[in-house]
Amino acid sequence: MDFLDLVKSRYSCRAYTDQQIEDSLIQEILDVGGNAPVGNGAYDSLNFTVVKSEEALDRIREYSAKTGSDRSLGAKVIIFVSSNNLKNPISYENVACAVDHMALAASNLGLGNCYLYGFIRDMVQENAPQLDVLNLAEGYVPAAALAIGYPDLSRVKPPKVELISKVKINHV
Ligand SMILES: Cc1cc2nc3c(=O)[nH]c(=O)nc-3n(C[C@H](O)[C@H](O)[C@H](O)COP(=O)(O)O)c2cc1C
Repeated sequence: MDFLDLVKSRYSCRAYTDQQIEDSLIQEILDVGGNAPVGNGAYDSLNFTVVKSEEALDRIREYSAKTGSDRSLGAKVIIFVSSNNLKNPISYENVACAVDHMALAASNLGLGNCYLYGFIRDMVQENAPQLDVLNLAEGYVPAAALAIGYPDLSRVKPPKVELISKVKINHV
């Protein structure tokens, strides 16, 4: 897709169909995430975990829904992005760059997606047992994730058609 069309039409998708996502598409998304800019080129500080099995997704959903609604949004795949250096704030920026790259890659493939932060922060703060599902190497802690699935077009808000910025801008 043309870049401007992509960024104009992207949106946070919070309703997905049951359709499985092809592994080749997941790989394409991971490849893009792995090419995001990373401070000091510290790529090995990051880890992507693809959660796709129904058992693993169910455990994540069970945790995410304990406040009421399923904060994992019923996604068919969740890619967790972890870092082994979260004491350094730059790591959160690295994670955000990777997640946003993957989000745009997913949108470009026609896949709905949504940046996930809130319940992942809670999982880490509570040291939730569900973190075991991620099978992370020693020292890696999840900081955010990307929910992915085919959008349920009857339940998602219509994509934007133009860039509408509410961000303050000043020129000096
Ligand atoms: C750092 C960050 C954290 C976010 N965390 C969540 C989240 O935990 N759950 C969620 O549903 N959306 C989350 N979002 C999505 C935002 O709510 C969404 O991007 C914003 O409302 C603008 O809507 P749009 O993406 O549809 O344009 C997050 C986005 C960012 C950038």
